[in-house]
Amino acid sequence: MRPTGAFPSIRMRRMRRDDFSRRLMREHVLTADDLIYPVFVLDGSARSEAVPSMPGVERVSIDRLLKVAEEAVALGVPALALFPVIDAAGKTEGAEEAWNPDGLVPRTVQALKARFPELGVITDVALDPYTSHGQDGLIDPADPRGYVMNDETLEALAKQALCHAQAGADVVAPSDMMDGRVGRIRAELDAGGHIHTRILAYSAKYASSFYGPFRDAVGSAGNLGKGNKYTYQMDPANSDEAIREVALDIAEGADMFMVKPGMPYLDIVRRVKQELEVPTYVYQVSGEYAMLKAAAANGWLDEKACALEALLAFKRAGADGILTYYALDAARWMKAGA
Ligand code: PBG
Repeated sequence: MRPTGAFPSIRMRRMRRDDFSRRLMREHVLTADDLIYPVFVLDGSARSEAVPSMPGVERVSIDRLLKVAEEAVALGVPALALFPVIDAAGKTEGAEEAWNPDGLVPRTVQALKARFPELGVITDVALDPYTSHGQDGLIDPADPRGYVMNDETLEALAKQALCHAQAGADVVAPSDMMDGRVGRIRAELDAGGHIHTRILAYSAKYASSFYGPFRDAVGSAGNLGKGNKYTYQMDPANSDEAIREVALDIAEGADMFMVKPGMPYLDIVRRVKQELEVPTYVYQVSGEYAMLKAAAANGWLDEKACALEALLAFKRAGADGILTYYALDAARWMKAGA
């Protein structure tokens, strides 16, 4: 719609003059329904560890996670996304712990679903918490550059996803960026009778430097060392490629589609929603959270106002939901009438 008139008969500020008219013309709203809370879980009990690069975020044992889950339910946050912290002893070249039915993730899923059946539980499907080399897939022993093998990794991911579904996960979320993984996982879930388990595909996942604090949180940074994920995660220079990635995941049977990171990639969120018309999600990643926290801690930004503005911007760009470490804070702020 182009303006059909001009100043002074047209005055854009008229509608901005009072609160009632600002509210009436507001196009987008953020509510607790839009939020997914990512959490880091540890083995043991009564354990909490701070993550220094993510103030306000803790790695917690299952008993403590149940209290977090209770809060999420009370605040109306629909789902948690689980990320396990695996000790060094559980990490191997072949990531076998990733599909151990008695592993940390299946036990966490069972505990959450038993206590809060109405809370959505999303599990991450990727091998990086479990590999001694910190890559998301299996590496080729014959390749001096440590190439991550695609098709061999698919078999591991299928086992991991099935293990999560058997434990009761509502949504499995492949974040590994192997080709064909959504189709392979869908087939495995269906063959196992898990036709209702949803797939949230990290379809447009970029090889971003904004993941640094997350790798500290799950303890994969040291394992990855100077390694990178350029041979499977997307080049930040590309946009059309994201559309192809999402289109492939639609064809392979995913239910929900993620763009990651968030704020530097709002154009991608917009294109995915507008061009492909699918349920679109965005991940406000650890580095984005750390930036806001650091500026707020210095008194340079108003944390609440900036965090809520960033989350609303995701909605405006076209996101149907947002994974954010601010989920509980944002829900609390909104409840208090921020
Ligand atoms: C890996 C994974 C990553 C994140 C979620 N899952 C990091 C990576 O690809 O190395 C990052 C999330 C964040 O930065 O908040 N499967």
